Amino acid sequence: MSGLVTPMALRVAVTLGLPDRLREEPATARELAPELGVDPLALDLLLAHLTTLGVTERTDAGHRTTPFGAHLCVNADNNLNNALDQNSAAGRADLAFVDLLHSVRTGEPAYPVRYGQGFWEDLTEQPRLRATFDAQMTDRQRDWVPQVVRNYDWARFGTLVDVGGGHGSLLAAILKANPGMRGHLVDLEETAAGARAVLALYELGDRVEVTAGSFFDPLPAGDACLLFDVLHDWDDQDALRILGRCADACDRVLVVESLGGSTEFDLVMLVHFGGRDRGLHDFERLASVHGLRLESVHRLTDGRSLLEFTR
Ligand SMILES: C[S@@+](CC[C@H](N)C(=O)[O-])C[C@H]1O[C@@H](n2cnc3c(N)ncnc32)[C@H](O)[C@@H]1O
Repeated sequence: MSGLVTPMALRVAVTLGLPDRLREEPATARELAPELGVDPLALDLLLAHLTTLGVTERTDAGHRTTPFGAHLCVNADNNLNNALDQNSAAGRADLAFVDLLHSVRTGEPAYPVRYGQGFWEDLTEQPRLRATFDAQMTDRQRDWVPQVVRNYDWARFGTLVDVGGGHGSLLAAILKANPGMRGHLVDLEETAAGARAVLALYELGDRVEVTAGSFFDPLPAGDACLLFDVLHDWDDQDALRILGRCADACDRVLVVESLGGSTEFDLVMLVHFGGRDRGLHDFERLASVHGLRLESVHRLTDGRSLLEFTR
């Protein structure tokens, strides 16, 4: 519980692409070092610790990734590689945990202490980071989509505005299953461009629209606004502003969140964004500021609930 060595060794291994590289073909540290642009002696020390962990093993031809280590490969289908890679948005953001003490002292995110500006500003300036974040969001939705579509009566709404909707695979699935509905996705410029490309693949014609913009500005009108995993990224003040924009645009606001339960996730939200998971009463309190009343609660997936608010 106390060591930082193993978590960092795994992150560096993934960032250097070692699990994939050594799965294809065994190699010695001396062979690998020039290929990766690293120091051969230091790489040998890293590989020795990875061997202790069972991530790699020694063979006559050099180090090789074990079946256990293969869980860290790009195509392992568990999102671990993306989460640990220091060049991905999530892996990079987790390094801010070094300044958790700052967050605990101040209640503010540690991310800007390390990187000089906030997470979202970084993503705007570095399209590669944004691409890894958007991909991570789409990947995690993949398993949930069928349950989300099935476990709520979306067809009651003529137009659903998906606020901070990412690349739109969830909105697309809802619209596919409910041919009478229209959808309007709002997200920041780069992500909105990605959403246009993804949504085009679903052949929804003019039933879907994408607007590049901020949810701190006025939102397009609709019958309901959906905020899926958005509010936990923000502190109370910003969450209130987002809810206010939704309440101005739609009579109904659908908040999907996990409603707490993961102490680890709460600290991640704090360090990355200054946010946190909130409970039912926290949301009722925030929403009431904008005249929104909680009408019903629906269990969407094992980890997510939908709170339906009416103005
Ligand atoms: C945690 S992700 C959730 C994405 C999507 N709702 C989902 O569940 O997959 C938060 C989303 O909010 C978007 N976002 C962040 N700041 C925003 C802003 N000021 N205006 C609009 N969208 C924003 C991000 O680009 C991202 O797509």
